[in-house]
Amino acid sequence: MKNTLLALALSLLFILMIFTKPSLQESNSPLPNPRLLNAFIALQAWKHLITDDPKGFTSNWYGYDVCNYTGVYCAPAPDDPHITTVAGIDLNHARISGLLPEELGLLTDLALLHLNSNRFKGSVPDGFRHLRLLYELDISNNLFSGVFPPPLLCLPSLKFLDIRYNKFKGKVPSDLFNLKLDALFINNNDFDFTLPKNIGNSTVSVLVLANNNLRGCLPTGIGKMAKTLNEIILSNAGLSGCLPEEIGLLRKLTVFDVSFNSLVGSLPKSMGNMKSLEQLNVAHNKLSGAIPESICSLPRLENFTYSDNYFCVEPSSCLKLEDKDDAKNCIPYRPKQRSPQQCRDFYSHPVDCSAFGCLPPPPPSPPPPPPPCSPPPPSPSPPPPPHHYYYP
Ligand SMILES: *[C@@H]1O[C@H](CO)[C@@H](O)[C@H](O)[C@H]1NC(C)=O
Ligand SMILES: *[C@@H]1O[C@H](CO)[C@@H](O)[C@H](O)[C@H]1NC(C)=O
Ligand SMILES: *[C@@H]1O[C@H](CO)[C@@H](O)[C@H](O)[C@H]1NC(C)=O
Repeated sequence: MKNTLLALALSLLFILMIFTKPSLQESNSPLPNPRLLNAFIALQAWKHLITDDPKGFTSNWYGYDVCNYTGVYCAPAPDDPHITTVAGIDLNHARISGLLPEELGLLTDLALLHLNSNRFKGSVPDGFRHLRLLYELDISNNLFSGVFPPPLLCLPSLKFLDIRYNKFKGKVPSDLFNLKLDALFINNNDFDFTLPKNIGNSTVSVLVLANNNLRGCLPTGIGKMAKTLNEIILSNAGLSGCLPEEIGLLRKLTVFDVSFNSLVGSLPKSMGNMKSLEQLNVAHNKLSGAIPESICSLPRLENFTYSDNYFCVEPSSCLKLEDKDDAKNCIPYRPKQRSPQQCRDFYSHPVDCSAFGCLPPPPPSPPPPPPPCSPPPPSPSPPPPPHHYYYP
């Protein structure tokens, strides 16, 4: 009985093998068309530059069947659906150590390259400029270094660029803001640059530049991003100067974070036009004066954090906000404020927004200072006069 069952099982298995063999063969050895052959060359060159692969992602990276390699995804070529080609590589969270080879430029059909959370170092090879179809590039959370990779400025299809959490340094080329990107993350690097005038040329909906050293001001050109900009995060980015009136034009913006900078002056009244704003964080700066009532009445505002500044007037609409933080300011009758001495010292020095080189110089004779601790008078635009505040 046992033997007949075994024989039956064996013959069933045999029949199964006969029927499935042709399809297995097909998937195991696709005819290596020239593009897959190039991919084979590129991926083998890459494998040779890998010094550690603790999770064994590349342990099956041998043989011509590159479509079978872990993390490598093939698809019909966009220009010829009869040809299979490498369309994506996803090695996220592989903790691989190594370098990227020039040969990756042979992957000319690559649309997606995800290398986040590995230990790749060195630079992005020049060969990347051949990746005409690259749409998403995520090399975040690695050990890449050197200047902003020039080939990344030559990718006509690039929409999503994420190079955050690396060791890139030096200037960010202003041409970066002329690309037709949807999202740009360059935060947590050692970039040291001034935001260029053409920042407004950028088409991104999400822009994260936090934790770098952006010397200088937020340019007035930012107002030109009104059509697309949805989130901008500029925390701990070394910004100084005053916030430009033009930020009020950003009517689609839902998240505005300029916390942990050295911003001075008052919050522009125009911010009351930022109708989509949900999260507003201006904490840990040297902002002063009255908080415009219109900001706290914004219809979608959920969380307004403005602690650790020198604000001295807080409208009642702000007090009504559920999620707010107003600690460490100069607001009378509120808990956890600065000492009166600290506030007096601060307000004894008038703030001159034009002193930061971001605005045209002030008119020759400034108007008389406004009454103590009140919002500035409606300013002739441009150029706005320096803002004076005297703590009572
Ligand atoms: C290739 O794919 C087949 C299934 O299609 C699988 O059985 C085989 O283990 C794969 N080879 C490698 C090297 O991963
Ligand atoms: C901004 O974009 C316009 C239009 O594409 C272009 O003419 C101009 O040169 C760009 N500005 C800079 C500084 O690159
Ligand atoms: C409000 O925003 C601040 C700053 O981003 C954050 O620390 C806080 O947790 C937020 N509050 C809520 C309730 O989400």
